[in-house]
Amino acid sequence: MSIGTQTAQRTVTVAARGLTRRFGARTALKRIGFELYPGEVVAIIGPNGAGKTTLLSILAGVLDPSEGEVIRAPEKRFGWVPQEPALYSRLSVAENLRLFARLERVADPEKAVADMLAQIGLEDRGSEEVARLSGGNQQRVNIAIGLLSEPPALLLDEPSAALDPRQRERLWEFVGGLAGRGTTIVFSTHNVAEADRYANRILVLGDGELLFTGTPAELDRAVHGEDTPLDVDRPALAGDFESAFVRFLHQRGH
Ligand SMILES: Nc1ncnc2c1ncn2[C@@H]1O[C@H](COP(=O)(O)OP(=O)(O)OP(=O)(O)O)[C@@H](O)[C@H]1O
Ligand SMILES: [Mg+2]
Repeated sequence: MSIGTQTAQRTVTVAARGLTRRFGARTALKRIGFELYPGEVVAIIGPNGAGKTTLLSILAGVLDPSEGEVIRAPEKRFGWVPQEPALYSRLSVAENLRLFARLERVADPEKAVADMLAQIGLEDRGSEEVARLSGGNQQRVNIAIGLLSEPPALLLDEPSAALDPRQRERLWEFVGGLAGRGTTIVFSTHNVAEADRYANRILVLGDGELLFTGTPAELDRAVHGEDTPLDVDRPALAGDFESAFVRFLHQRGH
């Protein structure tokens, strides 16, 4: 395995090995292991308290595991988009980006701010106070901050939860573009249909355990059995998929 470097073997963006996290007597994650690859879009799904935020926080480096390790190329941090936008609402969009660019020690903060405003399509809103932006646009600024240091992976905690359908479409379009250019995307969601539709791979967490990892089609098969036609239109499958997912969790004792 090679981390962040190109060799004859497949390049890995990050490998998690035996990640366990305890909070007092509670074990939030139990010996989680997986590898993530460049350009992958990975969804983490699981019920409340399953450990999604804990896992993303550990991958982001903002929380230490109790046991195990996260192996990645040391020179680049991952982009982290927490569920609650960590923005200064009284500062303008550009001022927020500039502040975080300096905190991240980006080599050319002014260029990074201009690039980010263009990337998120808010070139004409740079001087606007963040508090005046819609939730979807605040989310875009939040994502831009995660991308300031051009990270190899972007981690998003329930990024679409507060967005309306049109804003969601724009989010996934943007995220898909990043993945197309090689960024590894990891997001958590309660929306199984969304994971099914936008992820290449799904990790299912339940009570801190990794119950399943595979493609959406493989998860379909795991929950429906082998006879499910795989050429079914994906959006049409979504409603049924969600109930099948819940059955699957129950079968596994959750
Ligand atoms: N700082 C903390 N102190 C104590 N317990 C915590 C802390 N953070 C998380 N936990 C516990 O760890 C478990 C996993 O929590 P986590 O927030 O990772 O779940 P989640 O899958 O993100 O849930 P949700 O879908 O509600 O966001 C829960 O039992 C939670 O109560
Ligand atoms: Mg969470």
